[in-house]
Amino acid sequence: MRVDVIGGGPAGLYFAILTKQSRPDAEVNVIERNHANDTFGFGIVLSDETLDNLRQADEPSYREIAANFAYWDDIYTHYQGKVLKSSGHGFSGIRRLSLLQILQRRAAKLDVRMRFHAEDAGVHAHRGADLILGADGINSGVREQLKAHFRPTSEMRPNRFVWLGAKTTLPGFTYSFRENELGVWNLHAYMYAQGECTLVIETTNEAFLASGLGVEDEQATAAYVARLFGEELNGAPVLVNRSFWRQFPVVRCATWHHDNVVLVGDAAHTAHWSIGSGTKLALEDAIALHRAVLRHGHDARAALEAYEVERRPEAERITHSASTSLQFFENVRRFWNMDPVQFNFALMSRSKQITYENLRKRDAGVIRDVDAWWTKHVSQQEHIRLPADFAAPPPMFSPLGLRGMTTMNRVVVSPMCQYCAEDGTPTDWHFVHYGSRAVGGAGLMFTEMTCVARDARISNGCTGMYQPEHVACWQRIVQFVHIHTDCKIALQLGHAGRKGSTQLGWEEMDRPLPSGNWPIIAASALPYYPGVSQAPRAMTRKDMERVRREFVAAAQMGIACGFDMLELHMAHGYLLASFISPITNRRTDEYGGSLENRMRFPLEVFDACRKAWPDEKPMSVRISAADWIPGGNTGEDGVEIARLFKAHGCDLIDVTTGQTDPASKPVYGRMFQATFAEQIRNDAGIATMAVGAITTADQVNTLIASGRADLCALARPHLADPYFTFHAAAEYQAMGYPLEGTSWPKQYLSGRDQLYTLARRARAAAEEIAGRIKPPKPDVVVRQKAA
Ligand SMILES: Cc1cc2nc3c(=O)[nH]c(=O)nc-3n(C[C@H](O)[C@H](O)[C@H](O)COP(=O)(O)OP(=O)(O)OC[C@H]3O[C@@H](n4cnc5c(N)ncnc54)[C@H](O)[C@@H]3O)c2cc1C
Ligand SMILES: Cc1cc2nc3c(=O)[nH]c(=O)nc-3n(C[C@H](O)[C@H](O)[C@H](O)COP(=O)(O)O)c2cc1C
Repeated sequence: MRVDVIGGGPAGLYFAILTKQSRPDAEVNVIERNHANDTFGFGIVLSDETLDNLRQADEPSYREIAANFAYWDDIYTHYQGKVLKSSGHGFSGIRRLSLLQILQRRAAKLDVRMRFHAEDAGVHAHRGADLILGADGINSGVREQLKAHFRPTSEMRPNRFVWLGAKTTLPGFTYSFRENELGVWNLHAYMYAQGECTLVIETTNEAFLASGLGVEDEQATAAYVARLFGEELNGAPVLVNRSFWRQFPVVRCATWHHDNVVLVGDAAHTAHWSIGSGTKLALEDAIALHRAVLRHGHDARAALEAYEVERRPEAERITHSASTSLQFFENVRRFWNMDPVQFNFALMSRSKQITYENLRKRDAGVIRDVDAWWTKHVSQQEHIRLPADFAAPPPMFSPLGLRGMTTMNRVVVSPMCQYCAEDGTPTDWHFVHYGSRAVGGAGLMFTEMTCVARDARISNGCTGMYQPEHVACWQRIVQFVHIHTDCKIALQLGHAGRKGSTQLGWEEMDRPLPSGNWPIIAASALPYYPGVSQAPRAMTRKDMERVRREFVAAAQMGIACGFDMLELHMAHGYLLASFISPITNRRTDEYGGSLENRMRFPLEVFDACRKAWPDEKPMSVRISAADWIPGGNTGEDGVEIARLFKAHGCDLIDVTTGQTDPASKPVYGRMFQATFAEQIRNDAGIATMAVGAITTADQVNTLIASGRADLCALARPHLADPYFTFHAAAEYQAMGYPLEGTSWPKQYLSGRDQLYTLARRARAAAEEIAGRIKPPKPDVVVRQKAA
């Protein structure tokens, strides 16, 4: 077997080692353009998890790597003149050159043939090899030569960054954010050996250009950074090593293999350096590839296929995390006015890997500070007088005031169509469904999209607010909620537009009825599914006036029902959303074209409802902050849309995304829309509600305390568990938190007491078991303690 490895970085060398270690008879060639002792960058970071993988893959190189580590536990954040410390992060740094030399020595011992200072002649020059590795880094020539097969994309991020070094001792991983007349400059600094550290400095392209620093002007850069961060670096001189101002390319490939050629490490995918995972990914790619090759013997193609199937989800998880992380640093201005405690928590939780509960495990003191700060902050906002010895509840159990309405906590039952009304009239199902969710402890509950006219309905099963009997039924529901619970109830009003006259949610959703369709209207005459859906009629001014009147009449009925809050549904491609998105609004009159024009009719409806709706009661608007379609609305448009609603008296933006058109391609994941709620909240300065794949109390606490949203709406979790909030309360009281922010109905108090007792016992048992687990045997390796 002959393996040719193009590129002698961590990925290429490590794969060569693993191959020779398991197949001594194999011929393994590594070709590397640099000299053996050349390296760029100073130190790299590896997590404990990666170290375990290295130990299992190749013990001798692991021992040497681990013996050269500097190990830290603490992170220090310098921000607005304060320094915040958090512990329990456990990571290791090693000089990049040391890592490469260890791998080179191990490879030489195993008879890997390494050619240094040799430029690869191209993939075609490796015809005789059974397997060819493109391990040639971020600017991979292999990827470029076979780009028709790998189909790579590269997106250059806007910020500028530079790698530097300094000979100084830091107490731990150090972040610092300093503002000067040009902008905000971020420092990431970590030690990789006693008295030696890597620095990455990052700023916006605008600040970099204004600084007058040249891209390759290393000495001027070093002097600038030494001046700016002199305090953090103890006045140490700043060192350079090919320290050029770069922009980070996010590289992705549709596939990583073709015939017997495979891309690994940075050649296949890049992970922004702010989660320190570039080298980890490279080494773990090599381990996964080696495993697949071992399993598939001589069949290189089968091995590469298996490798990609197995490795892709994990690699994508890490690269996605890295992309989420980089957004914090690119948008640090968004967090700039936060208190240091909240800023630090927002920084720690930026990639969603570290959450409120995860951080508690690392450093319980940090969470105590977050809780205490949050409670004081909310008390000031809500004019609550706190006793000197107050006990802070978790952030999700704090109240939120919107005009005259105060929710007892931050958990919301998101609007959810039940598709079983009769000519718009809610039935016994609705009474029980809403009643039981309101009993379950959430602070606020939304009705499903309730339609302002018969022909405004999505389906024959949608609830309405256009006939007197609707008022009576909704009133009964609202009264139940008010009499028996402390949950607030909001009416969501909407008009289906081009998605109207369609089947029930559990039938063929968004598809027209088999018979009995009614005519539909929209901003433009574009069918939802071309060739399948009905074509809507583009609305005339007369239609607009009718629809506006219907919304106002429905809002007035909502007042008669006693709802606490009103939301207008302007998301998910329905009628009002169809005006806002350029994908669905192709009008050439004053209601189409610019965002200002597209917002004209939605704002007209909002204004008319706001006028009808009582001043003391809040109003929200649900928007699709991004369409997830090229040429559609983006997060930046979401901010502009929110600003306009805010200026017209809107109190809260309910931030969802997509469903504008079948072409929408959302990137799903945990809390996947929360980043838009964060952007709108902090850029437009209006309260937001996050929604979408928020499933745990931990996530609610994380989003609320980090200033990414003011409320968290959960839809599907509330279908499976109407008592989501009560269950969360039970867990937190078992941890010793005060019982605030929920109220159980008196009929259920004995159930509450039992649930709380069981939660306390379960927690005590879990702690006892954890205490009995013996700590692992001390590592064979002596780690350097840096400070
Ligand atoms: C300048 C720089 C500094 C960095 N510093 C740090 C740091 O301090 N800390 C950290 O965590 N991460 C750092 N990184 C990122 C991290 O090193 C990478 O994510 C990781 O090294 C990826 O490993 P790899 O083996 O895939 O690619 P690389 O390490 O890039 O290795 C690819 C190798 O292929 C060689 N090569 C490319 N083309 C050819 C060719 N045609 N012929 C022969 N050889 C070729 C290159 O010379 C290189 O040695 C740095 C990256 C760069 C570019
Ligand atoms: C059965 C069902 C019905 C829904 N109906 C509505 C609705 O009437 N109005 C609305 O704005 N969103 C509606 N949604 C969307 C949810 O409010 C929510 O935005 C979405 O389900 C994502 O949240 P989740 O991940 O917590 O489920 C519905 C969702 C579900 C699952």
